[in-house]
Amino acid sequence: MTARTLALALVLAAPLPAFAAKPIFPDVAPPEVFGRVVLDRTSTATRIPAVVFEHWRHRTTFSCRLCHVDVGFAMEANASQISRATNAAGLHCGACHDGKKVIREKVIFSACSATGPVTPACARCHVGSLGPEHRAEYFALVRKLPVYAGGYVDWEAAEAAGQVRPLDFVEGVSIARAPLKLDRDVPLETRGTWLGAVTFSHKKHATWNGCELCHPDIFPSTRSGQVKFDMAAIREGRSCGACHRTVAFPLAHCQRCHAGRSFGMR
Ligand code: HEC
Ligand code: HEC
Ligand code: HEC
Ligand code: HEC
Ligand code: HEC
Ligand code: HEC
Repeated sequence: MTARTLALALVLAAPLPAFAAKPIFPDVAPPEVFGRVVLDRTSTATRIPAVVFEHWRHRTTFSCRLCHVDVGFAMEANASQISRATNAAGLHCGACHDGKKVIREKVIFSACSATGPVTPACARCHVGSLGPEHRAEYFALVRKLPVYAGGYVDWEAAEAAGQVRPLDFVEGVSIARAPLKLDRDVPLETRGTWLGAVTFSHKKHATWNGCELCHPDIFPSTRSGQVKFDMAAIREGRSCGACHRTVAFPLAHCQRCHAGRSFGMR
């Protein structure tokens, strides 16, 4: 976010009592950190460094649905029971990271061994914490992708331009099934705010999330007009905030929901 748009967001939000009590939005992590999950349920306790999982690394290749439905990861940090044993058994990270699976012409390196010593290869995941060299690695990866506000990837534009093609099926991981389709784009019935009406495209969301990531867990009803949308719930990580707080573009980028795309952010 540029200083100008940030200032504007602050000015627009200032008169609202609901926003006055707490900061109007949580600090946004820098682009290379946004979407990072530190996995440390068992690692530190068993004297191996914690695991760092980066969403940006993986979403260039996979849809959200593939991991959060087919592989079955929770959409909450450290909520899945990921462990050395589950990985070694070919579940969780091990569903792909088994040292054999070929994805886009690359053999995916393997996750935890069931037994045996810690080797340098383990440190590809068990890094503990990441240093500044990581920022350069991020920018090298996103160099060819559209970015805005100082380095956040515009994943929506990248997908539309065919620069990223998230796989929604991986042999041996996904169950073959006919994809559910929505033939029309369901508009959101929102009240509209003085920030501008909220954009929501079912079609664009289904590309990344399928249907199952939202229905029934986040939005139980598939009848329009059932959900009351409000910013407080979103900020608490419910509704749209279930994804847009930590992984899909940050909540602080108000304009991307509230005034369509053309707000001088890009
Ligand atoms: C693809 C990523 C990945 C790689 C590579 C990897 N691990 Fe893990 N490992 C994990 C994850 C994720 C966890 C769960 C972390 C947590 O919540 O603390 C884990 C947990 C562990 C734990 C914690 C104890 C337990 O029972 O869960 C040990 C010990 C471990 N791994 C050993 C290894 C060893 C040894 C290697 C190298 C031979 C290795 N791992 C390589 C992802 C990986
Ligand atoms: C390669 C697999 C993979 C892909 C692809 C993936 N995720 Fe995740 N996601 C994970 C894992 C692993 C976790 C951590 C789960 C845990 O700790 O139990 C996670 C956690 C999350 C969380 C919780 C984050 C937090 O800080 O609490 C959200 C929200 C989320 N993912 C949304 C998404 C969205 C949206 C997409 C698509 C843009 C996506 N994920 C794509 C594997 C993936
Ligand atoms: C759906 C398949 C899939 C799942 C599930 C998955 N990964 Fe990956 N991961 C990949 C692919 C593909 C790459 C890119 C590999 C490459 O470039 O060699 C990758 C790369 C990585 C890298 C970059 C390492 C490096 O040195 O370049 C890390 C770290 C990583 N994954 C950790 C994890 C952890 C931790 C989990 C589980 C919490 C996980 N991944 C789950 C497919 C997956
Ligand atoms: C992920 C999409 C999204 C983002 C990003 C977003 N909003 Fe919202 N916002 C909504 C939705 C949906 C509503 C409900 C709209 C309706 O019912 O008309 C809403 C409603 C509001 C309202 C009306 C009052 C209320 O509390 O419901 C205000 C004010 C508002 N947002 C301010 C902001 C500000 C300021 C930001 C940036 C810090 C922001 N929003 C970012 C989706 C978003
Ligand atoms: C990112 C979240 C999300 C995804 C993914 C998603 N939906 Fe929805 N869906 C919603 C929301 C939000 C509503 C509106 C609920 C309301 O207005 O009360 C909705 C409403 C609907 C409705 C009712 C619309 C109407 O006109 O009555 C149907 C049917 C529906 N979804 C089907 C699907 C199908 C099929 C898919 C997969 C192709 C899908 N949805 C994917 C969030 C999502
Ligand atoms: C299940 C996760 C999830 C939920 C819930 C979700 N989104 Fe998204 N949304 C995404 C992902 C992934 C993208 C792709 C872009 C990105 O990751 O930055 C996206 C993209 C968008 C875009 C840009 C694409 C477009 O339509 O022009 C808008 C606007 C948006 N979301 C608004 C919303 C609103 C409003 C809600 C709540 C009604 C919502 N989203 C709920 C995951 C989600």
